[in-house]
Amino acid sequence: MNYLAPLLLVFALFQEIIVGEEFGYDGNLGPLHWGERYQECAGKHQSPININVLHVKQVTLPDLELIGFDDSIDNVHVTNNGHTVLIEVKNEPHPRVRGGPLDGDYIFSQMHFHWGDNDTIGSEDKINHRSFPMELHMVFFKEDYRTPSEAVKHSDGLTVLAFFYELDRHEHPAYDDITSALVNVTEPHTSVVMDHPFSFLNILPYDLKRYFTYRGSLTTPPCSEVVIWLDFEQPIRLEREQIEAFRQIRSAHGKITHNFRPIQPIGDRVVFYNVDSNYYVYNELDETEWTTTHSPSKKKKHGNSAVTTLPTTLHSLSLIFVLFIVL
Ligand SMILES: *[C@@H]1O[C@H](CO)[C@@H](O)[C@H](O)[C@H]1NC(C)=O
Ligand SMILES: *[C@@H]1O[C@H](CO)[C@@H](O)[C@H](O)[C@H]1NC(C)=O
Ligand SMILES: [Zn+2]
Repeated sequence: MNYLAPLLLVFALFQEIIVGEEFGYDGNLGPLHWGERYQECAGKHQSPININVLHVKQVTLPDLELIGFDDSIDNVHVTNNGHTVLIEVKNEPHPRVRGGPLDGDYIFSQMHFHWGDNDTIGSEDKINHRSFPMELHMVFFKEDYRTPSEAVKHSDGLTVLAFFYELDRHEHPAYDDITSALVNVTEPHTSVVMDHPFSFLNILPYDLKRYFTYRGSLTTPPCSEVVIWLDFEQPIRLEREQIEAFRQIRSAHGKITHNFRPIQPIGDRVVFYNVDSNYYVYNELDETEWTTTHSPSKKKKHGNSAVTTLPTTLHSLSLIFVLFIVL
């Protein structure tokens, strides 16, 4: 028994070196040195960035279609890869996304998290220089390229749906299955299957229409500049203890207390801000009447995707008409 722990440690280190994924977030392995081993990490279109809300270009893109996001998915794996916690789907078909800024279909590959030492830091992208305590990255690869490894060779190969977290006094029940899996994967290179079926929509915020989008890179080596980023504006709210559970995860070097890359220069890039054209109409309404009949959460539970349907549009038009009469 006494020999086992050092052996495992040596094995984990060995594996990291062999696989060539030797990077970290401190000292000689930290983000300031990634460019020495991975040339692309010193590129001009890197992520993460700070999004200055005064400098974004407002647009109304086609509806984003989230397919299979409300499926109840079995056989979901939770893995500690020594850098983060990964959630992977083994059964086909995988959820997919299209529409918005995307040209073609993108298939789910994996999702993972970035967090910080305490609740004041942890997100990768920042909004007006504000950090959030944690960030979720849902990674999808373009179907045309068939595999994630082929997709990273193309400038439009990946899209990442990014979600920020903020603190709430109440726990988020959909995250219990994740945090209960975390206690079984505290050691690096361990994996468990989730106890219950898993649904993507359950762990996301209500508003999936307002997001920032820009072209950037992977935020870990090899930092390939192949990512269409979508950063959703509405954060997901978790209880402090639910975020704390992620800080218990270990790498070969000890607890992963932080795993976010610092912001990179935005350079010549433009960040677009997608607003739903119907949104302004929502604001004109009697809030309570609207939310009870048309709350986005209800739409999510029944629809296959969070797309605005024709009846919604007609409803909006009729309300504009009503407003005209009143005025
Ligand atoms: C949070 O952690 C950072 C990095 O360790 C540290 O600089 C900062 O003082 C901490 N903030 C609080 C409120 O503890
Ligand atoms: C984690 O381990 C506990 C205790 O062995 C077990 O009851 C639980 O089902 C496990 N959870 C997951 C998600 O593997
Ligand atoms: Zn990430």
